[in-house]
Amino acid sequence: MVVNMERILLAGYLLVGLLLSGGYANPLEVKLRVRRGDSVILPCRLSSDLEPDMVSVRWNSSKDSLLTSGTRVLKYANQIEVVKTSKLEWNLLIKSVKDTFGANYTCTTDQQVVLSNVQLLILVDPKIDCGGTNSSDVSVDEGGTVHLSCAFTGEPVANITWFRGDYKKPIGITGSKLVLPNITRHATDVYTCRGENSVSSEDYTINLIVKFPVEVDVMEKTLYVKKGGVSTLACIAQGEPLDETYWIDVHGNKVMSTTWQYDFNIEPAGAHIPAKFVTLATRKGTLTVFDFGPYTCEANGDGRVANAIVNVVELKEPN
Ligand SMILES: *[C@@H]1O[C@H](CO)[C@@H](O)[C@H](O)[C@H]1NC(C)=O
Ligand SMILES: *[C@@H]1O[C@H](CO)[C@@H](O)[C@H](O)[C@H]1NC(C)=O
Ligand SMILES: *[C@@H]1O[C@H](CO)[C@@H](O)[C@H](O)[C@H]1NC(C)=O
Ligand SMILES: *[C@@H]1O[C@H](CO)[C@@H](O)[C@H](O)[C@H]1NC(C)=O
Repeated sequence: MVVNMERILLAGYLLVGLLLSGGYANPLEVKLRVRRGDSVILPCRLSSDLEPDMVSVRWNSSKDSLLTSGTRVLKYANQIEVVKTSKLEWNLLIKSVKDTFGANYTCTTDQQVVLSNVQLLILVDPKIDCGGTNSSDVSVDEGGTVHLSCAFTGEPVANITWFRGDYKKPIGITGSKLVLPNITRHATDVYTCRGENSVSSEDYTINLIVKFPVEVDVMEKTLYVKKGGVSTLACIAQGEPLDETYWIDVHGNKVMSTTWQYDFNIEPAGAHIPAKFVTLATRKGTLTVFDFGPYTCEANGDGRVANAIVNVVELKEPN
């Protein structure tokens, strides 16, 4: 009884002495990051001024209050251990960490002196956070301004970088928003936002569609061909949306596919412009005297129609 009394007095004396000297003013502050499933040791060490035989230590967490008292484990007994590699050490070992262990831990002496504060963060891969607007198609009118945005969850917080195109060329923009003012049809492309933290990275792709009314241009406005010769009429049609493209021949017939008289062909005019080359070639030997005159290349989209005309003129043999 006397011995215990002495110990308490002595401990009280030491504590006051240390408080005066500022020994406890700065508990150890640590931030630890750990992957799920890994083990982690939370540090706690008595300052050398303390008499280790007279001090006992408790671990608390912001989630579960008391975890340990001395070397006794009060919670998660098969995952938690107090590791004393020396008399001064009161480290807390957490085995096979789960998300629920993400919390703030405090190591305190039985005299209420805080020895360490450990913030334990569980590392989490970046994941796109759709938040309701996860549509990966974005549509804007030409001349407008488009705001593309991405958000990622993850620990540590993921940084975001932007890329353009199938080959993911960096745009040089970082952060959650990509703003494209005064947009032109040439901005039509896929855009990728990449969320990256020290654990891993995730890409999210947005398909940007720039809308503009249909336009049609012809390569040559007049074409000179001999009777029975081959005339190749070419036009470029663009628009977003671009629904139909076709030729109307001199007789008013709509040509949308290859026939006995014509070869009809449509091919894309560029990777990232919604434009098409539309060609109409008369087959050899079919062009008669009645087939000279205007041919119209026409396109429609979104209820609008555009066209352009090529005049096919007979090329007479010089006399
Ligand atoms: C832990 O402590 C940090 C800083 O002291 C604080 O920002 C954070 O919100 C705390 N976390 C929990 C789970 O209490
Ligand atoms: C968008 O969200 C809906 C419901 O929230 C989900 O069913 C769908 O798979 C999501 N699409 C994408 C591309 O993430
Ligand atoms: C957008 O384009 C218009 C006309 O081409 C120009 O006057 C204006 O300065 C541009 N605005 C921006 C922000 O580039
Ligand atoms: C984003 O985070 C990763 C991992 O922490 C780092 O390697 C990369 O340099 C960061 N990028 C930017 C643009 O901050």
